[in-house]
Amino acid sequence: MRIRPVTLVLCMVLLAAVAAIAVIAPGTMEAKEKLAIELAATPTPTADVRSMLQVTIDPRNTPTPTPLLLKLGAQNDEVRRLQQRLKELGFYTGEVDGQFGQGTQASVILFQEQHGLTADGIAGEGTRTRLYSQSAQTFIPTPTPAPTPASLLKKGDQGDDVRRLQERLKELGYYAGSLDGDFGGGTEEAVRLFQRQNGLGVDGSAGKQTFALLYSEGAKQVTITPTPDPNTLPILVNRDHPIDEDFEPRHLVKLTNVVPSSVAKIKGSDIEGDRTAVNALIEMLKAAHADGVTNWQVSAGYRSYRYQQKLFDQQVQEYRGQGFTQANAVSATRQTVADPGTSEHHTGLAFDLTVPGTIFKGTPEQIWLHKHCWDYGFIIRYPEDKEKITGYIAECWHVRYVGLPHSQDMRDRNLCLEEYLDVN
Ligand code: DAL
Ligand code: ZN
Repeated sequence: MRIRPVTLVLCMVLLAAVAAIAVIAPGTMEAKEKLAIELAATPTPTADVRSMLQVTIDPRNTPTPTPLLLKLGAQNDEVRRLQQRLKELGFYTGEVDGQFGQGTQASVILFQEQHGLTADGIAGEGTRTRLYSQSAQTFIPTPTPAPTPASLLKKGDQGDDVRRLQERLKELGYYAGSLDGDFGGGTEEAVRLFQRQNGLGVDGSAGKQTFALLYSEGAKQVTITPTPDPNTLPILVNRDHPIDEDFEPRHLVKLTNVVPSSVAKIKGSDIEGDRTAVNALIEMLKAAHADGVTNWQVSAGYRSYRYQQKLFDQQVQEYRGQGFTQANAVSATRQTVADPGTSEHHTGLAFDLTVPGTIFKGTPEQIWLHKHCWDYGFIIRYPEDKEKITGYIAECWHVRYVGLPHSQDMRDRNLCLEEYLDVN
């Protein structure tokens, strides 16, 4: 019969104990009981004892430490650490409270599924090793199956298809509104942003192509563009500093979608502007309302190269109609309309503000604007006293967003943009 090494160790310990009793005997019963208690309390032999006894322990029988299994119901600092890491990677959105509840379990399952691990919702050694390793991936939402709306979804539509569209846009971070099944301005902006950031044509309605991409693995999560750094100087666009023909601002929003109609009338439905500039515009106009100056209209915003060309040509034709030669018509036009590629309107940062049905100059709106726009990041871009520098006849309606603190600095030092950027 083969005696296992562990059995051997135990036998020797027992022998030693019996010998000890023999030495002590004849002791009192009390002493025997004490010894029995001490023996019971004696820990398992340490490696030292084993080597003293010169017994080789079979390494295959060495007990491994009990693995820490974090599972439903657990409550400790390891759970907190687990939640923190799952949150970092985007799998967990709940509170980091150290309590392994249903939410934590669901996140562990998501993590395990995405990493090809057994998806049992228990964070054992294997799951945790992977979780804290460099190779742990961030959460990739599994697209829900594409609903097949009967037709294109666009502004004004209502119903479950729209609600599902909103849900998906929200999942990807493009939509922050309520899931009300109403395709309004907010939904249109979300679709436009999705289309822009995913390389689709931007029209704000969800057709076949948009749906296909929206529900594919390739659908990108929204990229948040940081608000402009106040240390970055404003962009200059003028005759000497043209912009690329195909330049398009990063994030244009449609004014009718984001400017409340109580704040300003938007001339036509197609005016767009840079998101940050439009937000500042809304804030500024709300402040004007609070001061009792309320009759605002936005007449122009972003212009494409082609659109500026059209405006320029129209003005030339107008002068031609008045008997100007072509050369004179062009040079007269240049005093009020920028050549395509040299208009600030290409940036999405410039707006023409007016009062409906009247000349802007001298209205309470114009007076308020010239006094306060600076505090909202805007400048009067073509002032009367800077015509020689800007090259344009003064435009009291044209504001340009340069951001704070630049606008206030320019007001305080009475500098136009060319002077401020020192490019004269
Ligand atoms: N009216 C301004 C100069 C523009 O056309 O951009
Ligand atoms: Zn303008």
